[in-house]
Amino acid sequence: MDNRPVGVFDSGIGGLTAVREIFRILPREDIIYFGDTGRVPYGSRSRETILKYTRQDIRFLRTFDIKAIVVACGTVSTAALDVISGEYDIPLIGVARAAAVRAAKLTKNRRVGLIGTEASIRSGAYERMLSQYSPDAEIMAVACPLFVPLVENGRFRAGDAVVEAVAAEYLEPLRAWGPDVLILGCTHYPLLREVIAGIMGSGVELVDSGAEAAENLQRVLTITEKLSGEEKAGEAGFFVSDSVESFSKNAAMFLGSEFRGKVEKVEIENF
Ligand code: DGL
Repeated sequence: MDNRPVGVFDSGIGGLTAVREIFRILPREDIIYFGDTGRVPYGSRSRETILKYTRQDIRFLRTFDIKAIVVACGTVSTAALDVISGEYDIPLIGVARAAAVRAAKLTKNRRVGLIGTEASIRSGAYERMLSQYSPDAEIMAVACPLFVPLVENGRFRAGDAVVEAVAAEYLEPLRAWGPDVLILGCTHYPLLREVIAGIMGSGVELVDSGAEAAENLQRVLTITEKLSGEEKAGEAGFFVSDSVESFSKNAAMFLGSEFRGKVEKVEIENF
């Protein structure tokens, strides 16, 4: 039993897709969330910069006495986690491996689609992971750089003409290729689920990488006997590196009634 909070971070609001799942399956865990909203997106940056930002984000989270970290960012999970995971003495749970495992289990026709940020796709990490769990599966990967800025600006609803047009351009070649599974390799993308599902069609299973990471957290905490022993519902503290107001508005919209805890601003460059 370990009542310390779990740290969760992302470049922005997308990591809340993982938080929502943690609230759902581990309702007694306390969470400290950091969204680097002042420096989002990470996905169009160099690996060096992503590594620098990642170390700063973790340094900030470790100012709290946390028991594990969920790296709720596909970009960090694919472009930085292999380098930094040895640097810390608490578990770092990324979103990519868990999603690759799920995709390997789900695919029947051995065609797996992948969408993610430019850095994630460039890293080739998903291909490497998928080949471990499903060696004969083919993967078609498409970078969708405009998705993160759209979501950060609250533009993700089905029927939004701009969102639909951008999504159709990215996804049409994928749909035509005929995968039966599509990995949402960036934690911002579940907000676009309806739009993406509308284009891909009902025969394509969408794998939510944040939700898979939440399940992985549950497994890790269970195996290491570090689940919270609290009777009451867990609490969350939210920290951002840019406007508190805009994060609060979008987080509330996204987490709905689950949204609890206050939001504070952090000078992340000081870490
Ligand atoms: N949610 C992040 C991810 O999963 C967004 C990346 C970005 O900031 O570009 O990749």
